[in-house]
Amino acid sequence: MSNYHIKQFEEYFQVYRKSVRNPEQFWEEIAEEHFVWRKKWTNVLSWDFKKPEVKWYEGAKLNITENCLDRHLRTRGDKTAILFEPNDPNEPAEHISYIQLHERVCKFANVLKEKGIKKGDRVCIYLPMIPELAVSLLACARIGAIHSVVFAGFSATALSTRINDSDCKMVITADGSYRGAKTIDLKGIVDEALNDTPGVESVLVAKRINSDINMKEGRDFWLQTLLDEAYQDCDIEIMDAEDPLFILYTSGSTGMPKGMMHTCGGYMVYTAYTFKNVFQYTEKDVYWCTADIGWITGHSYIVYGPLCNGATTVMFEGVPSYPDFGRFWEIVEKHKVNQFYTAPTAIRALAKEGVEHLEKHDLSSIKVLGTVGEPINEEAWHWYDDNVGKKKAPIVDTWWQTETGGIMITPIAFATPTKPTYATLPFIGIQPALMDENGKEIKGNQVDGRLCVKFPWPSMARTIWGNHQRYKDTYFSAYENMYFTGDGALRDEVGYYRITGRVDDVIIVSGHNLGTAPIEDAINEHPAVSESAIVGFPHDVKGNALYGYVTLKETGESRNHDNLRKEINQLITEQIGPIAKLDKIQFTNGLPKTRSGKIMRRILRKIACNETDQLGDTSTLLNPEVVEEIIDNVI
Ligand code: WT7
Repeated sequence: MSNYHIKQFEEYFQVYRKSVRNPEQFWEEIAEEHFVWRKKWTNVLSWDFKKPEVKWYEGAKLNITENCLDRHLRTRGDKTAILFEPNDPNEPAEHISYIQLHERVCKFANVLKEKGIKKGDRVCIYLPMIPELAVSLLACARIGAIHSVVFAGFSATALSTRINDSDCKMVITADGSYRGAKTIDLKGIVDEALNDTPGVESVLVAKRINSDINMKEGRDFWLQTLLDEAYQDCDIEIMDAEDPLFILYTSGSTGMPKGMMHTCGGYMVYTAYTFKNVFQYTEKDVYWCTADIGWITGHSYIVYGPLCNGATTVMFEGVPSYPDFGRFWEIVEKHKVNQFYTAPTAIRALAKEGVEHLEKHDLSSIKVLGTVGEPINEEAWHWYDDNVGKKKAPIVDTWWQTETGGIMITPIAFATPTKPTYATLPFIGIQPALMDENGKEIKGNQVDGRLCVKFPWPSMARTIWGNHQRYKDTYFSAYENMYFTGDGALRDEVGYYRITGRVDDVIIVSGHNLGTAPIEDAINEHPAVSESAIVGFPHDVKGNALYGYVTLKETGESRNHDNLRKEINQLITEQIGPIAKLDKIQFTNGLPKTRSGKIMRRILRKIACNETDQLGDTSTLLNPEVVEEIIDNVI
């Protein structure tokens, strides 16, 4: 039996027991046997959730790109590392071998150095899903620069906030991007963002759509020109295991997005180990995760986890609906994809289109299906199982978070018996706990509570960039000595977990984690708006959609509500991005509040979800009369 590759259910239990009985010995063995280190650690783990402080493999030296690239050159140099499938199905796919990827990363790393980027500097990456995106992450990692990828669907305001929060010195972008039939002026967005980002010294621009763009003298540089002149060897920067590898922003329930900081050693070990086991990747497989690298899923399970295992990982530039809803299946057939990992929102969108697109394609290569991002509903699970996996491919419903770095609760393909809508069991080394509202752990089975984790795991985020206090308050203060996830979960009669959803003010729309506060802030900037509150309501495809309750200032003038709705969504698009637009906006004379003035979102949520029979007692509100009015005018 190998602890590194678990193949059977009994093995899972044996290895799991080892991993929790003696975590240090366990993670030492995994790290030692399956990764390249330049110096061994002096201490496997030290931790204190009260501070909080967690360190894995302290004293060890490594570079993650040596593990993702260099070590494969002799054994699988000509194997495809990245298989790039462009937006346009008529444009040929690009097979980038490990040797080629290594060379591209080294050249890019030399360009970064040439532009003055050093170990520890922050580099913002704002790119579409083209090979340069993966290459730029690895190039940063090679020289020890900290990458901060911002999803290229975010607005100029969202981009500049993130650039400034981590004080990035450079931005890497493209002239534009393709998204289905549309093109997007990425460089224009960057130019707008850079109006108030004093720390940015240079911008590297990849050419993708060949548009005529504005290049600012002395600041903006065409990437290809620099690459053409770059030297193709670049030594690795030798990093401490606990040195930062990247920052990635995630929405919180309040205020600024949180820059989750991940470190080199533990992140590498855990993402590689989970990738291998959850998806049961074997040497000749072609693996495809449809996420964007702008999210943690892409960081961990398009780039680092797969490449560390010498896998072939597909990068898809386009969208599932272009040129039609058969695109995913066409790609699966064309590249004989073996593991397919996507989100419930994509599954629901595809299921809505029926099975005709599926029937046109040979999906027999598929061995394992994965889902991530939000709870998957029963119907979508069965559609995926019946029509995509033909009941032969196990579905791994993987629960995790930007903060956790890697998959936490999940079946192991072919080993763990699956159960629709259940993420099933904790991965090796993960010790979940369900907590009640009084801070006590709920033991036993057939219970539900708030999901926490009792013991550290190697890929957990170490801090929120620039705000350790907020890291402590958000994750380590709700329950003593526990990491609090923000999710609710239930444990069934055999100990399987089902994630029931967020228990805070984060709403997951199409798999995107959106905090209510930043959206409300954007709405409140409208001069006619006095106050607003956002809640989620169920949506067939998106999982949840946003419902906004808005009160207007009393100016005596009458305003056209349809125009106001457009203006509000325009503001949201500018400040956050189109993903945060509201599906429904109801104008009301007031918002229900507690006597201490807190908006009662629970009530608003019930109304938006058409569950007015479950409002409970509203008489203790400060202003119970507004509830009737809101119900009468619900959209
Ligand atoms: C939140 C984290 C981790 C990659 C993508 C999202 C929800 C994630 C599942 C799942 C039920 C899930 C949780 C979590 N979530 N995966 N398999 N079942 N819920 O990362 O943006 O940091 O969001 O997504 O609510 O807390 P994220």
